[in-house]
Amino acid sequence: MKRILTGDTPTGKLHLGHFVGTLENRVKLQSEYEVFIILADTHALTTLSETPEKIKEYTKEVLLDNLSVGLDPKKITFFKESEIAEIYELASIFSMYVSHNRALRNPTIKDEISSKGLGDQFSLGFINYPILQAADILCVKAELVPVGKDQEAHLEQTREIARTFNKISNSEIFPDPKALIGRVGKLPGTDGNPKMGKSLNNTIYLSDSTLEVEEKVMGMYTDPKRIHANDPGTVEGNPVFIYLDAFGSDSHRKQINKFKQQYEKGEVGDVEVKKYLTKILNEFLEPIRKRRLDFKDSELDLILKEGAQKTRIIAAETLSELKSLFS
Ligand code: TRP
Repeated sequence: MKRILTGDTPTGKLHLGHFVGTLENRVKLQSEYEVFIILADTHALTTLSETPEKIKEYTKEVLLDNLSVGLDPKKITFFKESEIAEIYELASIFSMYVSHNRALRNPTIKDEISSKGLGDQFSLGFINYPILQAADILCVKAELVPVGKDQEAHLEQTREIARTFNKISNSEIFPDPKALIGRVGKLPGTDGNPKMGKSLNNTIYLSDSTLEVEEKVMGMYTDPKRIHANDPGTVEGNPVFIYLDAFGSDSHRKQINKFKQQYEKGEVGDVEVKKYLTKILNEFLEPIRKRRLDFKDSELDLILKEGAQKTRIIAAETLSELKSLFS
């Protein structure tokens, strides 16, 4: 079976954006591929270096998020990055082959530097994290990496690294891992910001209660030019309709289309459409909330322990293959 490796940085709980960006593809492909999911706790230090104890808590939450959407721990190998020492050795070797300029040219890194206003105040580890990510992916020689659109640049860097080693070794040490981008690459935040993110305070979490979902949807950004319910409104780019399209099932399609037509003619109010979206999201989240309760803490620990044991063996083989080039 071909391998998938993907994962999450445990800097917060997973939200609807993660679902359409990557989780949904993980669920779909879990029987066709041998799937590895990394909880990238060392990556998390790029944002939580001052409060590292939070990473522990989020690591558990993020594992639960993954399990709650229907990923089967009997099929999938879940592990913590920090438990696989081989990953850091690989990353260290990889970093010898990536120029400083190339690391700084990564568009997602550049975006983060400007959107978070980091200026020149970022750690070495921060510009190095796509290289660490390449080690995550290549340690198990994954061929497919289901991720959100923001991760495409990192995959490009991973592929460059894989090719470099295949070239110098004149063999196929690594596959050429492909990104698999989700059905909705980027889900906007509830405030209309093109990106949904924890630090932006515009997220709907997979673990939100019915009431939290209702409150967040009712406060959602819609069409700012529309003041009265009988003003014609814009559907295109309107987050409420983007969410309806993303989370409505076939049985909702007719009603969604009707709302779109009515909205553009000023025949339906925002509140009515938002109530419908609340209903759809809560229906969608209900089985996810229920499944979350199925897992005990001791089970989570065991999943991670067994996952690390399995991954370590594979990563050690990859590392010794690479080291045989020079030692
Ligand atoms: N950087 C990814 C994110 O923030 C998480 C991640 C870490 C990852 N290592 C990975 C994703 C390896 C895919 C493959 O979402």
